[in-house]
Amino acid sequence: GAVTGAVVALPLEKVAATVFGPSWSAAAFSRPLPVPTPMRPSRLRLDRDVYDLTVDKSTAEIVPGVRTPILSYNGTFPGPMIVARRNRTVQVNVHNRLAADTAVHLHGGNTPQASDGHPLDVIKPGASRTYLYPNRQPAATLWYHDHAHHMEAEQVYRGLSGLYIVEDAVSRFRLPSGKHDIPLMFRDVNLGVDGTMTWELFGQPNRSTVLVNGVAQPHLTVQRRRYRLRLLNCSNERSMRFTLGNGASFLQVASDGGFLPRPVSRTEVVLWPAERAEVVVDFAPFKAGTQIMLENADGEVDTAKQLLRFDVAEGPGLFNADTSYVPATLVPAPADRKPTVTRKVVLSFDAANGVFLINGKQFDPERVDFTVKRGSTELWEITNTDTQFQIPHSLHLHLIQFKVLDRDGVKVPEWETYPKDTVRVLPGSTVRILATFDSEYTGVYPFHCHFVDHSSVAMMAQMRIVP
Ligand code: C2O
Ligand code: CU
Repeated sequence: GAVTGAVVALPLEKVAATVFGPSWSAAAFSRPLPVPTPMRPSRLRLDRDVYDLTVDKSTAEIVPGVRTPILSYNGTFPGPMIVARRNRTVQVNVHNRLAADTAVHLHGGNTPQASDGHPLDVIKPGASRTYLYPNRQPAATLWYHDHAHHMEAEQVYRGLSGLYIVEDAVSRFRLPSGKHDIPLMFRDVNLGVDGTMTWELFGQPNRSTVLVNGVAQPHLTVQRRRYRLRLLNCSNERSMRFTLGNGASFLQVASDGGFLPRPVSRTEVVLWPAERAEVVVDFAPFKAGTQIMLENADGEVDTAKQLLRFDVAEGPGLFNADTSYVPATLVPAPADRKPTVTRKVVLSFDAANGVFLINGKQFDPERVDFTVKRGSTELWEITNTDTQFQIPHSLHLHLIQFKVLDRDGVKVPEWETYPKDTVRVLPGSTVRILATFDSEYTGVYPFHCHFVDHSSVAMMAQMRIVP
């Protein structure tokens, strides 16, 4: 059935035949990486920056010379990148020109309920709506995406996502900045030979091309110096294991919701859908002319494995020396607080109905699953009971960042501790998280699996946060 397709790989011959025609593969790494630049506000008001996003159909050149029909914010693919400053409000006016509902959710945002993009709080076709993001939170790499009830999987897949970066006084430290700070959005797609995107629910095994900032297999010319890379996996269902093809190590400095207390040296970073990591890579040790592949070690075919080629060039040159620096400590680690409430969250698969459940139930927007006291700390024990079909799940909480304690009793590594808003829950395993509801906002917020093909078929629940 369709659901088991989420975990059963197709024979590789079939994947290769349906995905990249010969003309496209010949073009591999011929195109420069599109590097997003901050979107210009439509207006600057005394107390806020105002942006306008129009949701509409459009086309994008995902592979050279082919116009692929997409859904888009402002005609770009992915959507434009918004750069916000901590404590300065961003207002986004969203205009829906689709024939379908849309809702915009700022993933990782400390957002008042009215602007959270709840699945039922949608923008009707032809209507507009204003979202307010006060940005009362530390520097982080966030993203916005569609969240309309039952529609998010297809609409995110077709292109409705974009980056949203929060900067603050410490956010740059002396880390590489400006053109040495490169956001990278990774997502997979099932591209037909005619360049069209094929959408099918649970279609992950056929989504065999991974795009970086909206294009297949680009290259980026880098100087022999440090770069900050902001990695976001915005795939519907694909997990990725990022490595450098030459085995080089790099420093991870940030996780989902902002900086780690201190940098951690890594040779690979695993990101499941919606997870982020920021890393600093030093290209200085490599000779000009060296080519280094950013790989997804878990990719089953070349187009899902060889993602982005770094071409090392001369430079930066005497007058432009690399003065960037990664400090030994970044931000204070949050103090541990004692939980006053313990909850169980069970993620399961209902094979009879082909839906995914949280605590045995399908999403019901009329039902509040948990009532949570603002300011309190809770321990959530999250179990994925699906050992039969081996389907992985994750759990994403809106509004706050939490701390991951352990997985099957084993303490998680420091890069997976805090600040996290999405946690991976492998089949048969149990993860414990400590969530402090330290946001000033109250109201009803969703929590759900962030395999959006799952959340859009019922794997969602909600909490009411009360004063
Ligand atoms: Cu990125 Cu409710 O999700
Ligand atoms: Cu799931």
